[in-house]
Amino acid sequence: MVRKMIAVFERARSKRQNIKFSIALKATVLYTAMFGFIIAVSAGALSWAMSVRTMHFQNIERISSFVADHVMHERGGSFNFESFAEANNVYIEIRDPKSGFSAGFGKKPAGNTQGLESLRQVDTMGSRFFIKVSDRENIGIAGVLTPVTFFAAILALLAAAAVSGALLMRKMMRPVYQMTRTARSISAGDLSRRIDPVHSRDELQELADTFNEMLDRIQEAYNKQNRFVSDASHELRTPLSVISGYANLLRRWGNDDREIRNESVDKIIEETDNMQRLVERLLFLARADQKRLGVKYEKFCVSDLMDEIADETSLIGGQHKIMRSIERELYVTADRALIKQAVRAVVENSLKYTPAGGSITLSCVTEGGAVRLSVKDTGAGISTEDLPHIFDRFYKADVSRVRSVRGSSGLGLSIVKWIVESHGGQLKAESAKGSGTEIIMLIPCGGHALLTAN
Ligand SMILES: Nc1ncnc2c1ncn2[C@@H]1O[C@H](COP(=O)(O)OP(=O)(O)OP(=O)(O)O)[C@@H](O)[C@H]1O
Ligand SMILES: [Mg+2]
Repeated sequence: MVRKMIAVFERARSKRQNIKFSIALKATVLYTAMFGFIIAVSAGALSWAMSVRTMHFQNIERISSFVADHVMHERGGSFNFESFAEANNVYIEIRDPKSGFSAGFGKKPAGNTQGLESLRQVDTMGSRFFIKVSDRENIGIAGVLTPVTFFAAILALLAAAAVSGALLMRKMMRPVYQMTRTARSISAGDLSRRIDPVHSRDELQELADTFNEMLDRIQEAYNKQNRFVSDASHELRTPLSVISGYANLLRRWGNDDREIRNESVDKIIEETDNMQRLVERLLFLARADQKRLGVKYEKFCVSDLMDEIADETSLIGGQHKIMRSIERELYVTADRALIKQAVRAVVENSLKYTPAGGSITLSCVTEGGAVRLSVKDTGAGISTEDLPHIFDRFYKADVSRVRSVRGSSGLGLSIVKWIVESHGGQLKAESAKGSGTEIIMLIPCGGHALLTAN
């Protein structure tokens, strides 16, 4: 269980090793920073404003108690309230509603004093005096910081956060916009366009890299397809021009010259056969590419199949010595017809490229959980430069020699490769110039135990 979890973690880590700072992380950090900034600014402003207001309140409370004390002890007459109010930058109002007495000292505040007032009442000399001290000092932001302005400031901060967030997001999403533009500009004729490298070390960098890799693959497949079409047309042109040549010969001399007539007809038939074989191979590969060819698994005795092919080869390969080294009663679960087609294509090559008198050995043994089918000849062999390419489509090694072998299209081994690989097997070639060739097919037993009858 723990091992499984570690494996899942490792897989996720290796998948995301290019992502150092994910978008999720960046967005979280960004929003946390913005949120923290708004909270810090608002809390700082609020606490500063509170402390300033408290200070002012304490001040006017002190002044108002001082004034009340003077009124109470009838020292009012000798005290200069006017200059006291001016010096403290406050407005003092003393009223007795009963007698209608009212006096104001200092400059009356023009408008709202934002609640910075102190009200007291003093009972003295049989009267009740109301004393009001209003703060006139400009207390700056603290004075402006009413609940309304506080919320307005929060809204302004939020708007600033939204604008900066949008700008940042826009910058982060730039590769996505570029990808959209690149995707729009790509056409079948021009697959060479790529997204500029992104160095954001996040999911977008991964997306851009993946997008470019996908374009590489599409371009490669497109080029391969184009090459296939042009190679196929080229291969079809040769037999067509031979047929056309002999048809012209027939038209001119066919009626008069019996020998020319017979030769032309024979050649036309031969080339038509070649063309038919070529078209069949092309169709096979086209179907294989479109995944329209299925592998029909069945359990069969592969030893019998190899014997069957060896017998058939002995009948047609009269000038070659056909030998066999076949382990008895080997069973495999595979597509019998396809395996037969593959072995026959390899045997066909050995017959074609081994001079008369040479020998061809068909062998069949078990190897691990697979059967090892091999065809070995004593023919011309394949040079080390050609060897890695013989499974490529239309590849013909030693062109001058192959040209003399009419009907070679260079498709046989690429079909064998498709068949072996679609069985989950392996195809290998061992050869050297002048010392024969061995083509080895490893076909897994399809998950079934290899059955050997006693
Ligand atoms: N047994 C062999 N001995 C020497 N050369 C070989 C042998 N098998 C394959 N080759 C070389 O590999 C090339 C590719 O083989 P492949 O079977 O794909 O094509 P082909 O035989 O030329 O044409 P096709 O099989 O389509 O008729 C051949 O052209 C030949 O040069
Ligand atoms: Mg061949």
